[in-house]
Amino acid sequence: MKSVTVVDHPLVQHKLTIMRDKETSTAGFRRLLREISLLLGYEVTRNLELTTKTIETPLQTMEAPTLEGKKLVFASVLRAGNGLLEGLLDLVPAARVAHVGLYRDHDTLQAVEYFFKAPSDLGDRLVIVVDPMLATANSAIAAIDMLKGRGATNLRFLCLLAAPEGIERFTAAHPDVPVFTASIDERLNEKGYIVPGLGDAGDRMYGTK
Ligand code: PRP
Ligand code: URA
Repeated sequence: MKSVTVVDHPLVQHKLTIMRDKETSTAGFRRLLREISLLLGYEVTRNLELTTKTIETPLQTMEAPTLEGKKLVFASVLRAGNGLLEGLLDLVPAARVAHVGLYRDHDTLQAVEYFFKAPSDLGDRLVIVVDPMLATANSAIAAIDMLKGRGATNLRFLCLLAAPEGIERFTAAHPDVPVFTASIDERLNEKGYIVPGLGDAGDRMYGTK
């Protein structure tokens, strides 16, 4: 079952425009990514399961809603995933965190693994994988492969920008993983960059090049 949600909230779209602008500073880019992650986080967690528990308000006893099940996991695809992770942890402070270290080889565009650390009981938890960019989808597919290989069965993928080609490849490889994004851009260019895009997300976040 293929599912792609474009979060078209006006604040998301406004902030995204400033992030795309090449004149936006490193500090501004990082701050905006954190702000947007709060709004995207609202959407990606919208249908989390609730149960109830008995509490005492100052006035009476009530059955009050509370999140059901084990704490969820945010899996950040390094480096740029950390820009989304920070805001998501503000929203869900008790979440567990996985780090998936992958970089994209500039010539082959293949994802190269360099680090993996995750909670051991991934199979019992919802895992929300975060990376701002879904370009060829090689990185996202590899990250989900690794997490599934460690037992994850209930996953969602959250990004900021996606290329149509990346959406196609990702949903073909992992049709069970819903995708949330702020925009599906026009296409990939000959170097595998999303256009119009915003450039290299990791470089813009950290001021590297
Ligand atoms: C970027 C981005 C994704 C990947 C997307 O990371 O953050 O992980 O490229 O491209 P793909 O869909 O074609 O795989 P990069 O490899 O540049 O690493 P970085 O986050 O460390 O900058
Ligand atoms: N990774 C990025 O950071 N940007 C792109 O446009 C494609 C891959």
